[in-house]
Amino acid sequence: MPHTRLVEDKGGQNWISIKKDKFIFPGGGTQFIHGADQYLNQISQMVPEISFGHRVRVALDIGCGVASFGAFLLQRNVTTLSIAPKDVHENQIEFALERGVPAMVAVFATHRLLYPSQAFDLIHCSRCRINWTRDDEILLLEVNRMLRAGGYFVWAAQPVYKHEEILQEQWKEMEDLTARICWELVKKEGYIAIWRKPLNNSCYLNRDTGVLPLLCNSNDNSDNVWYVDLRACITQLPVNGYGSNVSTWPARLHDPPDRLQSIEMNAYISRKEIFRAESKYWNEIIDSYVRAFHWKDLKLRNVMDMRAGLGGFAAALHDLQIDCWVMNVVPVSGFNTLPVIYDRGLIGVMHDWYR
Ligand SMILES: C[S@@+](CC[C@H](N)C(=O)[O-])C[C@H]1O[C@@H](n2cnc3c(N)ncnc32)[C@H](O)[C@@H]1O
Repeated sequence: MPHTRLVEDKGGQNWISIKKDKFIFPGGGTQFIHGADQYLNQISQMVPEISFGHRVRVALDIGCGVASFGAFLLQRNVTTLSIAPKDVHENQIEFALERGVPAMVAVFATHRLLYPSQAFDLIHCSRCRINWTRDDEILLLEVNRMLRAGGYFVWAAQPVYKHEEILQEQWKEMEDLTARICWELVKKEGYIAIWRKPLNNSCYLNRDTGVLPLLCNSNDNSDNVWYVDLRACITQLPVNGYGSNVSTWPARLHDPPDRLQSIEMNAYISRKEIFRAESKYWNEIIDSYVRAFHWKDLKLRNVMDMRAGLGGFAAALHDLQIDCWVMNVVPVSGFNTLPVIYDRGLIGVMHDWYR
């Protein structure tokens, strides 16, 4: 059997085990060896407003291991994009995909990740081995860019609960940084800390002069992600409130979001009409595939739409109850529709097929 290294390394944390000739994923993680379900219950009990599957629909799990966090959130109607680099935890993303959990290789390093601003309702890092306060704090500022206004950052890590001096210092640095970027520490309990991003720019604008990080230039396009270096500045929220008031799931799948108005596109008729027409088009097509080609019997699970537009194809698969998830790819050469895709409660990524 190939790739058994993680079983030896992480078996004690319940990530993965072997039974006869099969891999088993018991649902554990480094910070939640008793299983992701219990861990998710704890998060829900700490901050009931998170309300998985209703207010929180799209999550990002940074440094996901074999993606048990995302796997257990599926049952709570949350789509989690699980990311990790290829490193000593070899094959983690391959395992996640073989489990049928949305995942891709991605790393917090020097460039923006390929997701738009205000993409995720919740961002999670449990022992994801990232030092958030170093390098002019650019990595947490990247989290901040991708976090929706009013969204939550969940951090489960040793500095939250351990008393050694060095870890206490790391906690103080994190407290200081999150206060400077206006995140509210909503709850800290045991080994989990949960912050909330503000709903608008007022806290940023009321900071004392000289407080770092500075605000990003207002003409910086925060949805421009293709080979963009990380910068040590706070992405401002749109003054018109776009992104902060998406409908709750499942209504948001079909409610045309405000950010539809800010997509650069050749629209000769109302954008809302285009949005509805695209949905109708894909619903009719997929319905015919279900009837003529028996798509429900195909056991589709990991699906990629290579030119996703406004996400109508993925929405139709959901409406027609095909039990799969879709990676909505938006080519660099076209209009950047990713903000709308995320506002609908779907996930996606920018890509250049020529590379
Ligand atoms: C100790 S494991 C924790 C896995 C999982 N979160 C859990 O609790 O079981 C650390 C994870 O962080 C990932 N990681 C390390 N550096 C990273 C970076 N710069 N960006 C994204 N993920 C990273 C590793 O690949 C691995 O998935």
